Amino acid sequence: MHAAAPILALADSYGRVATDLRVSLTDRCNLRCQYCMPAEGLDWMPVEETLTDEELIRLLRIGVERLGVTDVRFTGGEPLLRRGLPQIVAETKAMSMVDGRSPRTAITSNGLGLKHTAQALADAGLDRVNISLDTVRRETYEQITRRDRLPDVIAGLSAAHDAGLAPVKVNAVLLRGINDDQAAELLTWCLEREYELRFIEQMPLDAQHGWSREQMVTADETLASLGQHFSLTPLDGRGSAPAERFQIDGGPHTVGIIGSVTRPFCGDCNRTRLTADGQIRNCLFARAESDLRAPLRSGASDDELAEQWVAAMGSKLPGHGIDDPAFLQPTRPMSSIGG
Ligand code: 5AD
Ligand code: SF4
Repeated sequence: MHAAAPILALADSYGRVATDLRVSLTDRCNLRCQYCMPAEGLDWMPVEETLTDEELIRLLRIGVERLGVTDVRFTGGEPLLRRGLPQIVAETKAMSMVDGRSPRTAITSNGLGLKHTAQALADAGLDRVNISLDTVRRETYEQITRRDRLPDVIAGLSAAHDAGLAPVKVNAVLLRGINDDQAAELLTWCLEREYELRFIEQMPLDAQHGWSREQMVTADETLASLGQHFSLTPLDGRGSAPAERFQIDGGPHTVGIIGSVTRPFCGDCNRTRLTADGQIRNCLFARAESDLRAPLRSGASDDELAEQWVAAMGSKLPGHGIDDPAFLQPTRPMSSIGG
């Protein structure tokens, strides 16, 4: 085994250490969710700017084998659109952390096509999936995502469950006047199938800058709406996990509430992010990035790349500052940062 002890950690000046790496594999997507993209899509990243599988694996290896990354989550855009995904997962699982174990792997996906790839991904060593699903009504699904694909997502969810990628997690965003009256219905549907549902507050990360605080359905509102149908008991131990979990009707099932805006968890953040074009972001809301692609392509050593990654994390700000009057939305939209 050649893994050296990590000489460096991805620490920032507020004492947080990043061990959870989010990798965006592509900025493309086959949906057009209202809270993410305009109907016509975006100007996709040129192919030559996108890291090749080999370049990506090299950076992942530096993260896992030298910088203390323990969890790797593949996102997008839509990560299933990246052809090499099963191979990327397999190569990531073959890496050794300092303790000799392999990192945990997961994807955040919209579930389209997962029916066909869930088993291959599980065989490659994928541990978990988080699937985005905001409604179980076909018309509402089409209204939110601008595509009539609800049956494909449902098939993808059950394929993931059958492939042992359990517990399958479902991410939902509530939009005022569209699906904010469907929280309990979605939860009931998930409970029947043993999927773990989490509601995420809508964040100002859409490409078209349409977010407004007034339109956002808050964590409190979601809890009030669920509380009309279920008895919810808060569980302790949020740790660095963004979801506050609640036991439903005395358990054993739970629902998660991710109050990214009104109940920020920045103080416990353990994340570092890599975009499909090889930029390190120390925060979802960061306004600066650190380019690893140029040095990678011009012959930098693993040591040099590791040091630059560490430096990029060192300047991480204490919080997202959405409540600051001077808050500016990041230039890069969610679809090319990864969730
Ligand atoms: N606010 C909150 N969640 C979002 N997602 C995408 N855009 C936003 C947004 N503006 C969700 C997706 C997916 C995960 C990556 O983040 O639904 O579940
Ligand atoms: Fe695609 Fe996810 Fe954006 Fe929806 S939220 S358009 S599924 S990248």
